[in-house]
Parts: sequence; C-alpha cells; structure tokens
Amino acid sequence: MLKKAAVFASGNGSNFQAICDAINNKTLQLDIKILVCDKEDAYVIDRAIEQDIDVLLIDYQKQTPFEIESMLITVLRDLKVEYILLAGFLKKLTPLFIKSYHNKIINIHPSLLPKYRGLHAIEQALKNQDRIIGVTVHYVDEKLDNGPIIIQDTVEVFGLSEEEIYKKVHELEHVLYVKAINLVLEEV
Ligand code: GRF
Repeated sequence: MLKKAAVFASGNGSNFQAICDAINNKTLQLDIKILVCDKEDAYVIDRAIEQDIDVLLIDYQKQTPFEIESMLITVLRDLKVEYILLAGFLKKLTPLFIKSYHNKIINIHPSLLPKYRGLHAIEQALKNQDRIIGVTVHYVDEKLDNGPIIIQDTVEVFGLSEEEIYKKVHELEHVLYVKAINLVLEEV
C-alpha cells in the first residue's frame, strides 16, 4: 500500500516537481494526495495541475493559523495523509499542527544546518563567500529549521557565478529530497 503525503509549498515548486518526477519515474513509491499552497499566483499550482494533483489554496488573510490548521488536520485525515513534505512553504506551522504530525513533517533547507537557519540561507552563504554550500532535509519540530536531520550534503561553489550557484544548490536539493523521503519510507 503506497504511503500518502501532502506537499506544502508557496513558490516555484521545483522541489515539488522533483518529487513528482521521482514518483513518475518509479524511483519513489509515494502517493501525493494534495498540494497545500498559500499563494494564489505560485507557479507550484500550475505544476500540480499539470500532475493532476488537487490543490488546496489557503488564505492567511481571511483565517487565523489556528482555524486554517484545524481545517487542514481534518482534510488531511480524511485523505489519510501520513507525511507532510514542506517544499518552500513560507508560513510557520503552529505547535498544534506539528504535534498532530509528530515526526511526519519533513522540510528541506538550503544550508548545512544548524548554519543559516531561517530565510535567505543561500544569500547568507554568498555574502560570506562560502566555498561550500549545504542542503539539509530534516524532520520539523517547534523550533525554526531545527528538528532531527535525515540527510545532508554539500556542493562546492568556489569560482561559480551566482546563477550557477543557485542552479547547483537546487539540483542538489532535488536529488537529496527524494533520497531523504526514501530513507524515511524505508524506516517504516
Ligand atoms: C528551496 O530552496 C528550499 O530549500 C527552501 O525553499 C526553496 C523552495 O524552492 N525551503 P522551490 O519552490 O522548490 O523551487
């Protein structure tokens, strides 16, 4: 029986795409039941439509995080979703939600955590002229970019242009996220 997951994303969705591609190539055995998105113009929505995956658009202007997450817990429970994959989701989840999916929420972050927690991790690495940039996939706990690490890896970026650096880091993310999900699924 395939495990069921939801992806939460707010932006471009290249990690969402990498997960879908891995499922389509059969290198990942997972059923993405829904994309949860908080930005109506996010490109990840087009990607989900293309993949025939339902989209749940949430509006943080109209409802409180508590109301949204209570609704999400009900929807996700009805869909029998076991894993939440955060892929560039810019809203902070409340402890209520994190508790109800304890050790089942996974996030990808473009740094070698605990270095550069929070937003703009790649920009910080660029500012510091780091020669190596990391990517971390980790379980989510109540603190920002903090939970137990599933996998980490790095890329050498010395001498590359900014554009090349972003490209390399994202390419690593796409491989690493799929690897991490496979590791998590193997543990079950
Ligand atoms: C990625 O860099 C990820 O590590 C971070 O948000 C970004 C999302 O990129 N959490 P994309 O929308 O998947 O292209």
